Amino acid sequence: MQKSDLIYEGKCKKIFKVEGASDKVWMEFKDNLTAYNNKKKSSFTGKGRLNRDTSSLLFQYLSVSNHWVKDQGETGMITQSLSMIPLEVVVRNRLAGSTAKKFQKKDGTPLSSPLFELYYKDESLGDPFISSEQAVVLGWSSIEEIDQIKTMALLVNEEFSALCSKVNLELIDFKLEFGKTSKGELLLGDEISADSCRIWTTKGKRLDKDRFRLDLGNVKEGYQEIYEKLKSAI
Ligand code: TMP
Repeated sequence: MQKSDLIYEGKCKKIFKVEGASDKVWMEFKDNLTAYNNKKKSSFTGKGRLNRDTSSLLFQYLSVSNHWVKDQGETGMITQSLSMIPLEVVVRNRLAGSTAKKFQKKDGTPLSSPLFELYYKDESLGDPFISSEQAVVLGWSSIEEIDQIKTMALLVNEEFSALCSKVNLELIDFKLEFGKTSKGELLLGDEISADSCRIWTTKGKRLDKDRFRLDLGNVKEGYQEIYEKLKSAI
């Protein structure tokens, strides 16, 4: 595969066209680390590779249809080209982060069942929480598509949580993004990594991006532990 023009550069990834394959793109994972809508920034060597490897492992393991085609080099991934739905889909097994803060609950508060949430992906608005009715009436998705997304996200949650528990980890929450191929097939896209999940050890130690957000130190070690433990569970 030959990389061609840069299509898009985000905070943590670059997306390139693939020479002679208009239905594929080449994603390069960068070493950048950002939080709080880019207000806090850092990086560490090897982060791009760890996030590519973690995402690749999960995309190949999960049964939900997704965009992964193959890994490319140290930090690249060839994926299906998708037209992205502008929603951030979050599933929570315990309250932590923004929803815990909103309701003044302690991080780690248990929930009676997994909580499915939607956020509108628009950084200039701070990715606001939205209802599924808002997503439909404002034209970002359809009821049928949101039902399908919810089924897929909850299945990811079941499989990913079970994988974590095999190696004494607990999946607290995660964010997914979805898109459609030119033929209209709905696929799980973007990445699933320590950047987009909260994963704690069963003793309550945070291993994910909260180590960076909350200045807990040993960020790289946390990302590495997530990847290595998940790999050993498969
Ligand atoms: P939150 O508690 O900040 O709403 O985040 C919920 C989960 O979604 C958490 O695992 C981090 C992830 N997430 C992203 O991957 N990207 C984002 O832009 C946001 C806001 C959250």
